[in-house]
Amino acid sequence: MRIGRRLAWGSLGAGALYWLARYLRPKHSALVLQEKVVLITGASSGIGRSLAYSFARRGARVILVARRADRLEAVRREIEPYTSDVLVIPADLTDDEQLQAVVRQAVDTFGRIDVLVNDAGMSQAGPLQDLDPQRIERLLRLNLWTVIRLTQLVLPIMLQQSSGYIMNIGSGGGRIAVPLFAPYVATKYGVSGFTDALRREIAGTGIHLTLVLPGFTNTDMLNPEMLTLLERYGYRVEHPDAVAERAIVGLIRGENEVVLGGVQARLGVFAERHAPLLLRLYWRLFLTPEWRAGLEKLIRS
Ligand SMILES: NC(=O)c1ccc[n+]([C@@H]2O[C@H](COP(=O)([O-])OP(=O)(O)OC[C@H]3O[C@@H](n4cnc5c(N)ncnc54)[C@H](OP(=O)(O)O)[C@@H]3O)[C@@H](O)[C@H]2O)c1
Repeated sequence: MRIGRRLAWGSLGAGALYWLARYLRPKHSALVLQEKVVLITGASSGIGRSLAYSFARRGARVILVARRADRLEAVRREIEPYTSDVLVIPADLTDDEQLQAVVRQAVDTFGRIDVLVNDAGMSQAGPLQDLDPQRIERLLRLNLWTVIRLTQLVLPIMLQQSSGYIMNIGSGGGRIAVPLFAPYVATKYGVSGFTDALRREIAGTGIHLTLVLPGFTNTDMLNPEMLTLLERYGYRVEHPDAVAERAIVGLIRGENEVVLGGVQARLGVFAERHAPLLLRLYWRLFLTPEWRAGLEKLIRS
């Protein structure tokens, strides 16, 4: 009995010490974004556009990359009052040659890259057997391959500078296995794993990685019907400006992981790690025929 009690107190103490050490662990010095060169993919809309605005407001020099040149130019006009340097590079990031050209043009113009933001992405939802295989391939390429390849191209530049920051925009679906989004979840788990592994690989080089896990965010990625469905089920949907602002604060503070989407999402990430059975039960209850039908209608529309 006494041994049991000691064991319980011992584990409680060890747990408390572990959390305290995590809380107090030295963080690298706060990043000052003034004049820093920031390359943002997916900058033509949604979270990427909001990130461009938030970086510009902090005086960073910003490189905007996506396919739609007109949308990038519109973002340039929006942020020019805040920053002296904006470079627009229209490119399809699933193409290796175009990726290499983006990095070349960025370095030719500014001579360095201080922050790389891997934001460009797409989504796909529905029962696996109904999904278009070509879209699955494009999704894997853009959401995962592009993140890895662009990081691989930028890393030597940052290693030479002995400093750099990489922000990967993953998703809550990169820590929670959300049903009916299997290929998307696969890419986002990939981004989480890639970020975690690379952080260990390059520890001590002066390069820092922040993984951002947005919850549902009101961007072009979610159509109005999806938004209505989410609202009906009580899901929190955030504004991209709020997501961008929180992501940048996390980057500045040197946080390894920024979980957005409110308490619900944080609980989800915690439960997936420590109590997966609970989440299995949750999805059994939550995956109602109404939710399935709603999502399937969206996919067909
Ligand atoms: N919205 C959400 O609920 C949510 C939740 C969790 C995570 N996220 C993640 O947040 C990131 C941004 O998504 P968002 O919600 O802001 O959606 P979005 O508004 O649709 O933005 C996607 C961006 O990716 C760019 N893009 C797409 N294909 C590209 C390609 N082949 N080459 C270059 N750029 C390409 C798009 O620009 P062009 O079309 O001009 O190329 C656009 O700027 C994604 O990684 C997404 O997975 C979103």
